[in-house]
Amino acid sequence: AVTLKSVASFPLGAALNPKLLNNALYGRIAEREFSSVTAENHLKMHHIHPEQNRYDWSGGDALMAFAQRNGQRLHGHTLLWHQAVPKWVREFQGDSTAWEQLIKEHIQTVVGHYKGRIAAWDVVNEAFEEDGSLRKTIWLEHLGPDYIARCFRYAREADPDVKLFYNDYGQESSPGKLTAMLDMVADFKRRGIPIDGIGLQMHTNIRHPDRQIENTLRQTVNTGLLVHISELDIRINPDKKPDLVPTDALWQQQKQKFASIVRMYKTVVPKEQQHGITIWNIGDGDSWIPNFCKCQDFPLPFDKQYAKKPAYDGILEGL
Ligand code: XIL
Repeated sequence: AVTLKSVASFPLGAALNPKLLNNALYGRIAEREFSSVTAENHLKMHHIHPEQNRYDWSGGDALMAFAQRNGQRLHGHTLLWHQAVPKWVREFQGDSTAWEQLIKEHIQTVVGHYKGRIAAWDVVNEAFEEDGSLRKTIWLEHLGPDYIARCFRYAREADPDVKLFYNDYGQESSPGKLTAMLDMVADFKRRGIPIDGIGLQMHTNIRHPDRQIENTLRQTVNTGLLVHISELDIRINPDKKPDLVPTDALWQQQKQKFASIVRMYKTVVPKEQQHGITIWNIGDGDSWIPNFCKCQDFPLPFDKQYAKKPAYDGILEGL
């Protein structure tokens, strides 16, 4: 039978929650349709490093075992994110040397644990504001403005071969953020800071103009780095209507948007720069979006019962 991964000419991934793998349908789709796996949450700091002297590998290791069993690649998400800060870090008291030691130890322990088994890491996630300034996070506060570069160095020291990514959202709608990210890459190259790829999260919606997405892809390609559409989902309810009833017309628009994003990726990104496209979970019932936007939405290629939606055919069409 035709599956997404059998048709794709580049890695096609899904973000997975290891707890949902108990659901046979979820597991079967993850295994049958995708060639790459991202941990939706279980490699984030608050999950994997819940206390200063304790790491919890259970979720990440379960996903690693699943991926290995199915011949899939595991993409690591993410070493440093201001929204995934454990309580012990929020309460941490120490000078800048102690903070530096804290992130170095975290990065090198986690990268070391998966060394040789994981394909890539999103080293730092969402460090820029929409206007391109550095986001005022706990990391910036305690580590200073050059912390991103040092995180990449620490990751590289722990694994010379793993691909290192900078990941962020909204580059296709915030020119200032896109420019800041590209400037950072140019600066890293000048200074010899290791970086291999850029993640464009692409949490988008049916109304977002293709040409902005294409322009973002082109500019990202120009860095010469790997390009990952890392968290794709496509909302059909951008106005957050409280009582939205999905219509056929909306499903068709969603299908077209999936098709055109996949097609643009395939045509704009040269083969040797294609890290792939990852969809942010599997069924509409698993999506983070309703929680996030406090609204109804259905942004994924499978419905709540894991039946294929028109969006699924859109991906196939684009591939
Ligand atoms: C989200 C997960 O999907 C949710 O389950 C969790 O509650 C919060 O994080 N950008 C990212 C992802 O880089 O890690 C986020 O994932 C979605 C936005």
